[in-house]
Amino acid sequence: MQSPQGTPWTVADVPDQTGRVAVVTGASTGLGFEVASVLAARGATLVLACRNRERAMAAARRITEATPGARVSIQQVDLASLASLTQAAEELGTEHEFIDLLINNAGVMVPRRDTTMDGHELHLGVNHLGTFALTSLLIDRLLPTPGSRIVTVSSVAHRNARLRLDDLQSSANYKWGEAYAQSKLANLLFTYELQRRLAAIGAETIAVAAHPGNADTELVRDFPLQQKIIGSPLVRWATKWLFQHPPEGALPLLRAATDPAVRGGEYYGPSGFREYTGSPVRVESVGQSHDLDAQRLLWAASERLCGVSFGPVIA
Ligand SMILES: NC(=O)c1ccc[n+]([C@@H]2O[C@H](COP(=O)([O-])OP(=O)(O)OC[C@H]3O[C@@H](n4cnc5c(N)ncnc54)[C@H](OP(=O)(O)O)[C@@H]3O)[C@@H](O)[C@H]2O)c1
Repeated sequence: MQSPQGTPWTVADVPDQTGRVAVVTGASTGLGFEVASVLAARGATLVLACRNRERAMAAARRITEATPGARVSIQQVDLASLASLTQAAEELGTEHEFIDLLINNAGVMVPRRDTTMDGHELHLGVNHLGTFALTSLLIDRLLPTPGSRIVTVSSVAHRNARLRLDDLQSSANYKWGEAYAQSKLANLLFTYELQRRLAAIGAETIAVAAHPGNADTELVRDFPLQQKIIGSPLVRWATKWLFQHPPEGALPLLRAATDPAVRGGEYYGPSGFREYTGSPVRVESVGQSHDLDAQRLLWAASERLCGVSFGPVIA
């Protein structure tokens, strides 16, 4: 899909965001930082929702250096802790009566099995359950806001995933790649179920998904060897058609968040080979992500595991 002018959609197509409030999780670095920077440059009031205050402050400084006068604040939140999510949502709700954009970007990829503070497997807990809980806790600030959007960041990795409803926490035969992929499939199942529930109540808020392809970020920070290989100039040169820099990787997220042509339940990613690189277009997720039973069962399991509920509005 091209922009209305028939040319690839670029950062120049991000419309004016003046007067809009955008909450971006994981905005301290990588894709979240890029998305936040562009939205701030377009006039949005930005909330950098980050777990590490120092890294968030450094990101805020970089944004205001690039865009003097940018409206940027920091909300400390750890997606690995329901207590932190609850406190953050309360503080955000006090600060902002309305939220226009919630960009569920924060995510982890770790080699060894680890758990959140609430005891959930880390990929499931941060990438999906933290996202699910934060969205439910902020939904009352999004629903009354005309044109509001919830953008959740998935990955090409979802294609290889298997949703193990009998072992969502990957307790048996742990493989990090499978746990990560399952969490990214969960991001899509959640988005589609959320969109259907929003549509059922006639909400103006829409839920959209996006993925960056392969972007050269800090995501592999816990894989020293992988980081070294991917970071090598020679490897980067030889595989430049497989990787893009964070500003390009952020474009599908920005398109999902701001293009007026976007509709609820759509999914955006890069246009190139296997969606690894390229300009941002509407893409398709695998059949499993559209499985209605899987969407409903994951929703119910997520409510149970998080101890939060979207009800009574989005029952
Ligand atoms: N890079 C890729 O090729 C790629 C491909 C497909 C999908 N994605 C997805 O894109 C999203 C962004 O990743 P990235 O590539 O930009 O990686 P990144 O550079 O590592 O950024 C990840 C962000 O998530 C934050 N985060 C991690 N755990 C958190 C927690 N418990 N609570 C709050 N924030 C937390 C990090 O905060 P700290 O600064 O505190 O660490 C950081 O800001 C992720 O959802 C990832 O799965 C990335």
